[in-house]
Amino acid sequence: MRILMVCLGNICRSPTAQGVLQQLVSARGLGELVIVDSCGTSNYHLGDPPDSRSIRMARTRGYDLSNQRARQIDHRDFELFDYILAMDSDNLETLRRKSPPASHGKLDLFLRYSESGLTEVPDPYYEGPEGFEKVLDLVEEAAGKLLNHIVKV
Ligand code: 4NP
Repeated sequence: MRILMVCLGNICRSPTAQGVLQQLVSARGLGELVIVDSCGTSNYHLGDPPDSRSIRMARTRGYDLSNQRARQIDHRDFELFDYILAMDSDNLETLRRKSPPASHGKLDLFLRYSESGLTEVPDPYYEGPEGFEKVLDLVEEAAGKLLNHIVKV
């Protein structure tokens, strides 16, 4: 099972989602079964490590994002991945525009799996530390629910 987390820059939200889900997958011994990756819809930060604020906030909860590097979604991703999960509706719309219709069933909002009542992980880029904290709160909750869903199907 291959899961791709997608945001705009691939330096804040989707690297956080990748790191959190990857750690859950490893902790549950599912590393052979579940592959996790992330990318951005934009090319703004190609090759960059995650935002230092994301790295620092994630580290306080035991996640290491520092080895990740930003990349942009590629047409091969639409074939390779089974779940392509956007952090917000704008990015989901971009994915729909860029992808072949046969892949549209793989596209969804990441928070589809959350029980928070929210549909989007808010962009923290122009926010203070509380924005980054909120991303981690939402991502941790939704990643657990997503993994429970995946191991059931
Ligand atoms: P992300 O956050 O999509 O969660 O990685 C952003 C990062 C960079 C920009 C916007 C959002 N930017 O405009 O450069």
